Amino acid sequence: MAIPVIMDCDPGIDDAFSLAMAIAADDLNILGVTTTYGNVGLSYTTANALRILDWFGSDIPVYPGIDRALLGKLVDASEYHGATGLEAPEIGPPTNSPQAEDAVSFLIRTLQASQEKITIVASGPLTNLAVMLRLAPDVTSKIERIVFMGGSTDYGNDSPAAEFNMLCDPHAAQIILDANVPKTMFGLNVTHQAIATPARVRAMRDLGNDTGRVFADMSVFFEKVYRERYGFEGSALHDPCTVAWLLKPELFETRRMRVDVETNSGLSFGRTVHDIWNIAGNSCHTDVALNANVDGFFALLTDLLSRLR
Ligand code: RIB
Ligand code: CA
Repeated sequence: MAIPVIMDCDPGIDDAFSLAMAIAADDLNILGVTTTYGNVGLSYTTANALRILDWFGSDIPVYPGIDRALLGKLVDASEYHGATGLEAPEIGPPTNSPQAEDAVSFLIRTLQASQEKITIVASGPLTNLAVMLRLAPDVTSKIERIVFMGGSTDYGNDSPAAEFNMLCDPHAAQIILDANVPKTMFGLNVTHQAIATPARVRAMRDLGNDTGRVFADMSVFFEKVYRERYGFEGSALHDPCTVAWLLKPELFETRRMRVDVETNSGLSFGRTVHDIWNIAGNSCHTDVALNANVDGFFALLTDLLSRLR
C-alpha cells in the first residue's frame, strides 16, 4: 500500500527535487502540497509548487500556508535559490491556481477525516505545522510521522549556529519538537553529505529526458554558494533526504534522541540542541539522521528522475 503523505515545502530548488521524487515514487500517495514562506516569499513558493506539479502533469492540489514566522522578521534564501526561488525557464509559469482553502485548514481537515495515519514531509520552516497543532491538537493521533529537513547536530548555515528552516521560526520548530509525534530529522550534518558532484549531475543529464536535463541545470544553479562559501564540489540536496528515507530508510543511520531549539535571542538563536545521552531525561520522539549512504541516495534520486518526463 502506498504511504499517504502531505508535502509541506518552500520550493526552492532542493524542495523541487523532493517533489519530483515523491511524484515519481509508486510507494507514496501525495494527498496535497502545502506551501510556506522560506526560501522565497509565499507567493513565489506557492507558484513554484504549482509550476513543478504542472510541468509533471500532476493535479495534486496546492494549499498556500502562512507567509511569515510566528514571531520575528521575514528572511529568505534567495541568494541560494534565485529571486523567484526556481530559476528554471523550462518550467514555465503555473497554469493551475492554488486551492482557496489555506494549508492549515487543509491539514486539519484531511488528518481529522482520514481513516489512516498520514506522514507529513516538511522541508521548510515549520510554521504551518505548529499552527496546525495549536488549532487542532487532536490531529497528533492521525500523524504517522513528521519527516523534516532542519537543524544540525553540528554547524549552522544561516547563522554560525542555526540552520535556515529552524532559524526562520524557532518557536514553531519547538512546538513540533515537543509534540508527541514520531519524527525523523535531517539536519545539515547529514544533508551536507548529499553533494551533487559533477559526476552525479552528469548522471542526471545522461538520463536523456527533460527531467534529468532541467534538474541537472537547477543543481548547477544551486551550486554557487556551496562552492564559494563551503568549498563543496556541488550543491547540497537537503530536502530530498526526507523522501529518500521514506522510500529506503536503510540509506540512513538514525539515532533516537531529544532535540530542542534555542528560542532565546543571542548567538545560538535557532540552533537545535541534541541530547544524545538523554542527560536532561526528557521524552524523546525524534530520530536524528547521522549518516547517509550517499551513493545509494543518488542512485535512488536518479532512478526516480528517470521515471519522469
Ligand atoms: O537549510 C536548508 C533548508 O533551507 C532547505 O530546506 C532549503 O530548501 C531551505 O528551505
Ligand atoms: Ca526547503
